[in-house]
Amino acid sequence: MSSLTSSEYLNPVNTQTWANGRHLVRCLKVIRETEDVLTYCFSMQEPVLFFFKPGQFVTLELEIDGEQLMRSYTISSAPSIPYSFSITVKRVPGGLVSGWLHDHLREGDVIAVHGPVGQFNCIDFPAEKVLLLSGGVGITPVMSMARWFFNTNSEVDMVFAHSARTPADIIYRAELDYMSTRIDNFKLHLICERSETGQIWGGYRGYLSREMLQLIAPDFLDREVFCCGPAPYMRAMRRLLADAGYDMARYHEESFGETPAEDIASAEVQAAVALAQADEPQVNHWVTFSDSGKSVQAELGTTLYEAAASAGLTIPKACGMGICGTCKVRVLTGETVMSHNGGITEEEIADGYVLSCCTRVSGDVEVGY
Ligand SMILES: Cc1cc2nc3c(=O)[nH]c(=O)nc-3n(C[C@H](O)[C@H](O)[C@H](O)COP(=O)(O)OP(=O)(O)OC[C@H]3O[C@@H](n4cnc5c(N)ncnc54)[C@H](O)[C@@H]3O)c2cc1C
Ligand code: FES
Repeated sequence: MSSLTSSEYLNPVNTQTWANGRHLVRCLKVIRETEDVLTYCFSMQEPVLFFFKPGQFVTLELEIDGEQLMRSYTISSAPSIPYSFSITVKRVPGGLVSGWLHDHLREGDVIAVHGPVGQFNCIDFPAEKVLLLSGGVGITPVMSMARWFFNTNSEVDMVFAHSARTPADIIYRAELDYMSTRIDNFKLHLICERSETGQIWGGYRGYLSREMLQLIAPDFLDREVFCCGPAPYMRAMRRLLADAGYDMARYHEESFGETPAEDIASAEVQAAVALAQADEPQVNHWVTFSDSGKSVQAELGTTLYEAAASAGLTIPKACGMGICGTCKVRVLTGETVMSHNGGITEEEIADGYVLSCCTRVSGDVEVGY
């Protein structure tokens, strides 16, 4: 793969653009953001302009200890600087892929990525005034949006409220400060849970509350909101906005995959029902994978992903909860029930596509896989 520094390699006139698919990308640079967060910058073999909608993500395909693993990461850079793209990864304690990336992915390494995809973006929901809310590493999609608005000299009025554990955990701090000193339509507010001994902190302290938000963005009811952070943070933001009478149709959020408490509660109810029905005779249905010529019998409620696995087929999977779209397959005939979290569009559903990780068998099914 050529080096990005070569003027022969980069040609702003005839460079191709990026399209959703599987791509081999080379790591150009690794940048430390905080103690447990690293940014990785990538380019491709052939020069490519990395156009995407700010807020979208890619799914990494990695082989770790002989096992194929897929995980999604938001594109933290902006398409306004399109000759490379980056992701920013927080090391999750005990996390397989984030730990591996931090310990092993180095400049020059080549990996496979799928994408770009994602419905959480600022292109499909245009607005004159936005409120960008983020917690921790959830800053990545809203930073991509802010970079896009900043680099394109957009007139969009931005209020950016980011929450971090301590001042040392604020990701992209210098760049956020830089943007806020350069333009009037970018108002930055940083909120830290606490500060450690030796850290100077004159900003907001604690958790973002309605009173704080009133000071940060008195006109927040008029703004399009883009929110990303840990599940409890997003739950608190949803409640805060809804209680204040905000029009939730203008609220957009991205989940990184933590199971929300409501889903756990609903799963517990479903488990209790399943237990109560355990003595009843089990109904099986045929699941046929027409491309591979394999069929299996699956109990009512089995996911298509599980049915494929029991037929010896591996459908690529990343989030396992209907967010990333990696496990999409087409149902040719038969009945299924899907419970997704935004990883598929209405058009795809109308075309018969489903997310196999969260689509359950409810009759005999034929799948195009
Ligand atoms: C659309 C999308 C965008 C995302 N964007 C970003 C991003 O920009 N930056 C980012 O850092 N992340 C992002 N994520 C999250 C990312 O995909 C991974 O989920 C995250 O890096 C953790 O993966 P992992 O393999 O390191 O952890 P995993 O190995 O999947 O573990 C996750 C958690 O489960 C715990 N765990 C694992 N195995 C066990 C076990 N056997 N028993 C008990 N606990 C266990 C781990 O300790 C850890 O807390 C995004 C996710 C999605 C869906
Ligand atoms: S694996 Fe992410 S949607 Fe199914």
